[in-house]
Amino acid sequence: MKKLMIINGPNLNLLGTREPEIYGNLSFTEFIEALRGKYPELKIDYYQSNIEGELIDKIQEAGFSYDGIILNAAAYTHTSVGIGDAVKAVDAPVIEVHISNTFAREEYRHHSFISAHAKGIIIGFGLQSYELAVQSFIKTE
Ligand code: DQA
Repeated sequence: MKKLMIINGPNLNLLGTREPEIYGNLSFTEFIEALRGKYPELKIDYYQSNIEGELIDKIQEAGFSYDGIILNAAAYTHTSVGIGDAVKAVDAPVIEVHISNTFAREEYRHHSFISAHAKGIIIGFGLQSYELAVQSFIKTE
């Protein structure tokens, strides 16, 4: 069974109540329960932290024991050389995801320290961005 780790960065613990016009009404706990139900052939773990170093620790830990990481580093995407370096350092492929289309928002959200080291990037599909990333780990042939 493939093991995937979803890692969410700062303020994503508030999904469901935070700026619902941008991020939607569903909490991540509700969303991930539905996702696990839809993909029983995968083990999908989840970690969230508001703390940059804790996110780096989790990327390092999962990066050598999971088949893939789905990472929404939230605001740290645009600021953190350390998270970008961690993504580069690990073996597991990392898919960078964002709920909103960061390119349609403020200029400071257009740059990512993660993208260059990610296997791929999925941006702007709401919570479905995570599901599309999950599907990328399922062989279709
Ligand atoms: C986000 C986009 C970031 O710019 C923002 O800081 C977030 C969420 C997204 O998923 O759309 O917190 O990563």
